Amino acid sequence: MIKIIGITGSLRSGSFNTALLHVAAGLMPNGAVLEIATLKGIPLYDGDIETDEGIPQAVIALQEQIAAADGLLLATPEYNNSIPGVFKNAIDWLSRPPRDIVRVFGGRPVAVMGASPGGFGTVLSQNAWLPVLRTLGTRPWFGGRLLVSRANHVFNESGEMVDEAARSQLRNFLAGFAEFVQAGRKPGG
Ligand SMILES: Cc1cc2nc3c(=O)[nH]c(=O)nc-3n(C[C@H](O)[C@H](O)[C@H](O)COP(=O)(O)O)c2cc1C
Repeated sequence: MIKIIGITGSLRSGSFNTALLHVAAGLMPNGAVLEIATLKGIPLYDGDIETDEGIPQAVIALQEQIAAADGLLLATPEYNNSIPGVFKNAIDWLSRPPRDIVRVFGGRPVAVMGASPGGFGTVLSQNAWLPVLRTLGTRPWFGGRLLVSRANHVFNESGEMVDEAARSQLRNFLAGFAEFVQAGRKPGG
């Protein structure tokens, strides 16, 4: 069984990106599961906290979840045509200390998707992730794209995906990523 950890880059309860992950969990192909993680509890990165108190517990817990997963799926909002600060801040904490980067991120398959009420479906935010993913030594999947635009019409008030075309795109996206993750697995792993 392949385990993928999905992280939502939004803290708000009505988040389209969190809803996207919840719908994704129900559309995973056979042989793969999606575990959803949140950024709640991760403080602002502060080098003094790191020096004086070490890595915060919420960060360590998420690092362990990522390290135990076969792949990582980021559901990213777009803020001012880039990565939202809370999401980048979390990744910055997760990359500490540098000696753990390889264990947590090295060679790990990563896919990025996102939802926005706007017309471009987080394309610029997804692009902004690329140098970050490269720096962390991940193995980004470029075989598919999921840009959920007009998210306020794609999801209803309960966070259900009411747009069948988007649901079908999401299902295909997840199947493609799971196949990529599976293909990269070591025999017997
Ligand atoms: C500070 C800020 C900047 C934003 N900038 C963009 C943007 O550049 N492009 C975009 O499509 N939406 C932008 N939005 C709208 C977000 O896409 C929208 O708030 C979305 O619902 C956030 O994701 P969430 O629903 O998962 O919380 C911005 C929203 C905020 C609060």
